[in-house]
Amino acid sequence: KDAYRLSVTPQGAHLTSGGREGRLYGQATLRQLQDQLAAQPEGIPCGVIKDKPRYPWRGLMVDPARHFIPLADLKKFADLMAYYKFNKLHLHLTDNQGWRLPVPGYPRLESVASKRAETFGDGIPHGGMYTREELKELVAYCADRGIEVIPEIDVPGHNEALAAAYPEFFCFPKPDMKVRTVAGNSKELVCPQKPEVWKFYAAVFKELKDIFPSKIVHLGGDEAPTELWEKCPLCRQARAGAGMKDEQEQMRDFFARMTSLLAKNGQTPQFWYEGNAGIYHPGETVYAWRQDQARQSIDKTKKAGLNLIMASNEYCYLDFPQIQGQYNWGWMRTTTLRKCYELDPAFGKSPQETGHVRGVHAAAWAEHLPDLNHLLYRVYPRAMAIAEAGW
Ligand code: ACM
Ligand code: ZN
Repeated sequence: KDAYRLSVTPQGAHLTSGGREGRLYGQATLRQLQDQLAAQPEGIPCGVIKDKPRYPWRGLMVDPARHFIPLADLKKFADLMAYYKFNKLHLHLTDNQGWRLPVPGYPRLESVASKRAETFGDGIPHGGMYTREELKELVAYCADRGIEVIPEIDVPGHNEALAAAYPEFFCFPKPDMKVRTVAGNSKELVCPQKPEVWKFYAAVFKELKDIFPSKIVHLGGDEAPTELWEKCPLCRQARAGAGMKDEQEQMRDFFARMTSLLAKNGQTPQFWYEGNAGIYHPGETVYAWRQDQARQSIDKTKKAGLNLIMASNEYCYLDFPQIQGQYNWGWMRTTTLRKCYELDPAFGKSPQETGHVRGVHAAAWAEHLPDLNHLLYRVYPRAMAIAEAGW
């Protein structure tokens, strides 16, 4: 259904396709040809293009948690995605620096978790919350362009904004917790032993189900140091009671319970892959993101029966600087356009070894991308290379 055939003759252009997506891709190709050749009096050359994608998954992630992205800007972002035949828009809706999804019954998400006092000491308050109507409008806008919108609710970590609003969800509640104003990781994880946590996520997932026709919910699962789970009396008791030997087993159990909760709505999870295939469950889809670990991640996930989306940060993190001398915040590797074009999602391995690789995914983390201009300045032109790597 993704394939198309575009034939151009002196009489005109003729497009056939295996399905709706193929037609959209063929139209995108025609638009690209027109844009490139508009200045030439001869117009588009005659010929035949037979085309289809290598992978079914070609995604881009934006990060409205770190800097809110208004609906109008998300639509502009989606227009460009469609032009380059991306088909998944991933919304990173929650993080330490902000929570952007309203959930009925939890008003402090809006009044507390969606706002922060400032950003990196700039003294300027920042905030934003989508309405469910705006998100539905985005979903429809993207669907018209062949793009599925994937929401992410990051658990159990990356949750200081939630902790500021609902400290009681965490192992050691801190009533003076504030929404984070700088970058960096957090030790705060939601406590799996508190019933109110499960009640909350049931409400979150129900809301997602009502807004997003996608059955996928990205659960994050990244960068969740388990020190506080280790110390928490409730967590300790639970591990002992269930005969769990360590916090990684507790993480596996936590993911399994989250997955069951999603399953009640017909939803399935995805995760950022943390290198330990044992904490996920066969059939799940994970994203390889950690630096220089793509090759081994392909093998380990294959062995564990997982599907893999290639988002390895040395190719796919498009907030990294793309030319020497562009600011790198002291740590980001320069990731050139050439480097992005070198991405092979299968890393030269055989089809037998990589049948579980579903595609490519680039991420634009936005701690340092305050608006659409900054976002597009970093994402392009490299996103074109990532799109091509997936096609
Ligand atoms: C990630 O970059 N923490 C997925
Ligand atoms: Zn706990």
